[in-house]
Amino acid sequence: MARIFSGIQPTGIATLGNYLGALRNWVELQQGEDECIYCLVDLHAITTFQEPAALREQTYTMAALLLACGIKPERSILFHQSAVSAHARLGWIFNCVARMGWLNRMTQFKDKAGKDREAVSTGLFVYPNLMAADIHAYHATKVPVGDDQLQHIELANDIAEKFNHDFGVSFFPRIEPVILKETARVMSLRDGTKKMSKSDPSDQSRINMTDDADMISSKIRKAKTDPEPLPDNLAALAERPEARNLLGIFAAVSGESQEALLARFAGGGFGPFKSALAEALVAHVEPIGRRTREYLADKAELDRILREGARRAAGIAGPIVEKAERIVGFLPGAA
Ligand code: TYM
Repeated sequence: MARIFSGIQPTGIATLGNYLGALRNWVELQQGEDECIYCLVDLHAITTFQEPAALREQTYTMAALLLACGIKPERSILFHQSAVSAHARLGWIFNCVARMGWLNRMTQFKDKAGKDREAVSTGLFVYPNLMAADIHAYHATKVPVGDDQLQHIELANDIAEKFNHDFGVSFFPRIEPVILKETARVMSLRDGTKKMSKSDPSDQSRINMTDDADMISSKIRKAKTDPEPLPDNLAALAERPEARNLLGIFAAVSGESQEALLARFAGGGFGPFKSALAEALVAHVEPIGRRTREYLADKAELDRILREGARRAAGIAGPIVEKAERIVGFLPGAA
């Protein structure tokens, strides 16, 4: 049995990108033999300022959304990161293992910090160290993510290797990303070269998993495309990122292959294609939004699920991180 770990930031509503790139895989992986641990990474969320009331609400909403997607608390451990102190403790140790040069190369930091690197929080810079700690605190070996997280996972392996080497142990195992190839990177509806993101200023750029049928249809109708008709083969889409993106989304939510969809819509414009896509999306996404609202109506139950998840998570991560602390040379604390 392997252990699977993944996380999502409770900053805004999960998008179709989060869902097709990662969350549906989280749900799928619950069916297997492996132990699944899924985390709402609120410590990561505050690397950019969050209004406290909004953070609380978004954490509940993300928990409700994960349950609505099909995460089963009796099968998987679902909890919020700040409730398990092992993450921050190992994160600090990793701050002292990772090198500035490694973090300087992180493309997500460069993207998020933009031109004004002096003004962002130091937390944003060491963000990947905490992410490495999230995974290694459980000795997890498989991490289901979208492809924007691959560089962070490589770094987590570099950190573990350096820790093992510096202290002469083989304590932290190698980790592997688990990627859904066709939807590893769902793109913005306004620009096929940009990732769909919950933090994009334009709501039209994404489908939120809580959007209703009218909103979904309208966003798909307005989604950027090109004037050419749809081709009959995938290779012809190489230079048409928006068309390729919509086709990938359509295949993922309908279960039909991209080739079969092209065979059906080849030679036509985007009108009929978009209507059929919107219909497939509504059928897939709207029930998730509805169930999210149902779960959100009972916050006491969400609290109960998250606390129980945190208790189980701490039971696994606590002893592993304590061992790491002994390896580093820290004396035991209070019993
Ligand atoms: P976050 O909150 O940005 O995204 C959660 C998951 O969704 C995936 N994703 C996408 N996949 C395909 N297309 C997209 N447009 C798209 N946008 C987002 C992300 O790859 C991710 O899998 N750093 C992480 C959270 C994290 C984590 C961890 C993940 C913290 N600790 C430990 C794994 C293991 C993040 O910001 O995800």
